[in-house]
Amino acid sequence: MMEASGFKRSILITGGAGFIGSHVVRRFVKQYPHYLVVNFDALTYAGNLENLTDLEHAPNYRFVCGDIANLQEVRSAFEAWRISDVVHLAAESHVDRSIADPTAFVRTNVMGTLNLLLCARDSWNDSTAHRFFHVSTDEVFGSLGQEGYFIESSPYDPRSPYSASKAGADHLVRAFFHTYGLPIVISNCSNNYGPNQFPEKLIPLIINNLLEGRDLPVYGKGLNVRDWLWVMDHAAAIDLLFHRAAPGSSYNIGGNCEMSNIALVRLLCRLVDEKFGKTPGASEHKITFVADRPGHDHRYAIDTSKIFADFGWKPTVPLEEGLRQTIEWYVNHRDWLQNVCSGAYREYYRNHYDSKSG
Ligand code: NAD
Ligand code: DAU
Repeated sequence: MMEASGFKRSILITGGAGFIGSHVVRRFVKQYPHYLVVNFDALTYAGNLENLTDLEHAPNYRFVCGDIANLQEVRSAFEAWRISDVVHLAAESHVDRSIADPTAFVRTNVMGTLNLLLCARDSWNDSTAHRFFHVSTDEVFGSLGQEGYFIESSPYDPRSPYSASKAGADHLVRAFFHTYGLPIVISNCSNNYGPNQFPEKLIPLIINNLLEGRDLPVYGKGLNVRDWLWVMDHAAAIDLLFHRAAPGSSYNIGGNCEMSNIALVRLLCRLVDEKFGKTPGASEHKITFVADRPGHDHRYAIDTSKIFADFGWKPTVPLEEGLRQTIEWYVNHRDWLQNVCSGAYREYYRNHYDSKSG
């Protein structure tokens, strides 16, 4: 038995070394010193412990290198740390990779989620004392036309292997509520942006390419629309829902901030040009229209009225301000970006942790 006793809750946060997970881990560790936060992450290409160096010596933080798709590793963590709650973010998260290789997405997103559910079901006797919080995506609802918004009861209509695997996970999570009474909560969120995002996703990819003077690839005509949310607003919503949402409920989370990809890329060009005192329009000539993503969802937009009505949550950071902060962060963390691009970040675990359970 490891030292989980003495803490009010022992929360397994999966995928905590990734983009959103790192912000969620930091928020829980800092806001709740009486909770033990166990970050369970397989450190795939998307996991980066350099996102969490400031927490390494926090008394209520532990890192466990483990794979959610390996039932035995998940069971061992549940037993060793007497896990009372789960906040589940670990996933294969990039749509383009899911098109190239769907198998890893089913393994992690579906089988991995099932393993966590099985361990929670088998370990928790009193459902009122626990929470299984599943972090999902608005992409499970499919693609919108020019009008309308996703609401919590929108039908599932996933169109990429990524969103299909997330939808499969959502269905399993709900099934464990109905069948076994597991106290689950699901959130479905739109596109996040901010510090620590892997530069395969649109915003950090464009910022990185702007800093390196490279072309700026825009799929198709750039008319697809996404709704953008500052990542720390998402972390705040997860915290709120984890503590207050009723078992079995689900909530949509979004930025109330729709923009076409081409407008977003032009905005990033303007903000970077302004930051470096370049002539207005200097970077736009780097925009290159490239082949479209197969099955590219046209538009995502979220109706956030349920989370606002129930808990008063709304996004706090306007897009332009959040983008300025994001650009500032990437400019001030060129070493982070370089370590990611060179692959050096993958050495961090080996250099800083000498046993598997950290
Ligand atoms: P990310 O790719 O940045 O991070 C994923 C993390 O999961 C990494 O640290 C990786 O090492 C870990 N991981 C992957 N496979 C694992 C496995 N088998 N076992 C243990 N750990 C594993 O992802 P993100 O963008 O931070 O997304 C986090 C979650 O939020 C995902 O579930 C995603 O579906 C969801 N989500 C993301 C967004 C977004 O805009 N990024 C929006 C809505 C929902
Ligand atoms: O909506 C939530 C989802 O948002 C999350 O569930 C996913 O994990 C997350 O990756 C994100 O999915 P998207 O596919 O919307 O994000 P991405 O950053 O890959 O692409 C955003 C838009 O930009 C999309 O319409 C495709 C386009 N794009 C993307 C890249 C990488 C380009 O035009 N050029 C690019 O190079």
